[in-house]
Amino acid sequence: MGRTARLSADEAGLAEAAAILQRGGLVAFPTETVYGLGADATQAEAVAGIYAAKERPSFNPLISHLESFEAAKVQGTFDDTARKLAEAFWPGPLTLVVPVAPTCTISDLARAGLDSVGLRVPAHPLAHALLKATGRPVAAPSANRSGRVSPTDADHVLSDLDGRIDAVVEGGASDVGVESTIVACLGGAPRLLRPGGVPREAIEALIGQTLESGLEGGEKNPLAPGMLASHYAPRAQVRLNATAIEAGEAILLFGPERMQGSEQAKAALNLSKNGDLKEAAAHLFSYLRQLDASGAQTIAVAPIPETGLGDAINDRLRRAAAER
Ligand code: TXA
Ligand code: MG
Repeated sequence: MGRTARLSADEAGLAEAAAILQRGGLVAFPTETVYGLGADATQAEAVAGIYAAKERPSFNPLISHLESFEAAKVQGTFDDTARKLAEAFWPGPLTLVVPVAPTCTISDLARAGLDSVGLRVPAHPLAHALLKATGRPVAAPSANRSGRVSPTDADHVLSDLDGRIDAVVEGGASDVGVESTIVACLGGAPRLLRPGGVPREAIEALIGQTLESGLEGGEKNPLAPGMLASHYAPRAQVRLNATAIEAGEAILLFGPERMQGSEQAKAALNLSKNGDLKEAAAHLFSYLRQLDASGAQTIAVAPIPETGLGDAINDRLRRAAAER
C-alpha cells in the first residue's frame, strides 16, 4: 500500500471515500464517538484488512455502521426493547447487538462467526453522508493500532496508521471521545456489554428496567470464550498443526502443500492455496462451519504461520481446540 490519502470533508472527498470502501479498501472516518477504521462489512477480505492494519492479535466481533434504522433492520432482528432503543437513541452513540436477520449480508468475519451482529447508526453528519454514499454496512472499530488510544481526529489516526490504510476523511475532532454504549438484545433481559456515550441511566429510564450487568467486551477486554453464547465454537474437535490426517477427520488446509492421507478426508477446504493470510482470515469462520457440517468428529488443521494475520487466525483456532 502506498501513502494514506487525506480526503476533504466535502462531496468529492466523501465520494472518493465511498468508492474506496466499495472496492474493498480501508478508510478512516469521523463518528461522534471516535474515528472508525472502516471496511465494507460484506466483503470478508476487506474486513481482514482491518485486522492487518491494526495488528490485532485476535478476532472479535466488529460493529457495523448503517445509514438508518431501516438499513439496520435488513441486517438484524429487533425485538421490542431493541426497537425502542433504536428509535430513541439512533442516530447516536449506541450499539445494539441483535440476532442476525435472514437477509443479513454482513460477513462471518465481521461477526466473528456469531449468529448475532453489532449495529450502530452514527449521528456524525460526515459518517452519515459516507454511509449513504457507500450504500453498504461498514464495519469499523476505532482507527488506532491495537493497544493504543482511540483517535478523535485525523492526525491521531495518521500517527498510528499512515501508510497502512487507503485514506482518512479529515472531519475535525470527534466530540464524545468515548466509544458507543453496547447493549445486547438477544431475547431475555437486555445486557450492557460496554458503557459508553449513552448513559446507562438514560437507557434504563427509557425501557423501565435495569440492564443486566455486562460481560465485558471491547478491544481491551475481549469476550472470554464461552461467554454470552460468545465466540462461534465448532461442534467437532479441532486438532492443530496436523501434518497427516486420521480416519474420519475433515481437514482445513493452508498453502499449496497437500496433507498426507487427505484423499480419505470427510471434507477438505483450503483457507488459501497461495498461502495468503488475508484470504485465509476471510475464509476462516465460514470454512470452520462448513467442515463442522460435514459431520466429522475432528477437524485437522494444517500449520499456519504465526506472522501478521496468522496470529489472529491461530488465536481463534487455539480457542476452538481448547473450548470443551
Ligand atoms: O464508538 C464506537 O462504537 C466505535 C466507533 C468507530 O463507532 N466503534 C467501535 O467498534 O468501538 P468495535 O468494532 O471496536 O467494537 C467492538 C465491540 C466488541 O469488542 C464487542 O464488545 C462488541 O463490539 N460486539 C460487536 N458485535 C458483537 C456481537 N455480535 N456480540 C457481542 N459483542 C459484540
Ligand atoms: Mg478500540
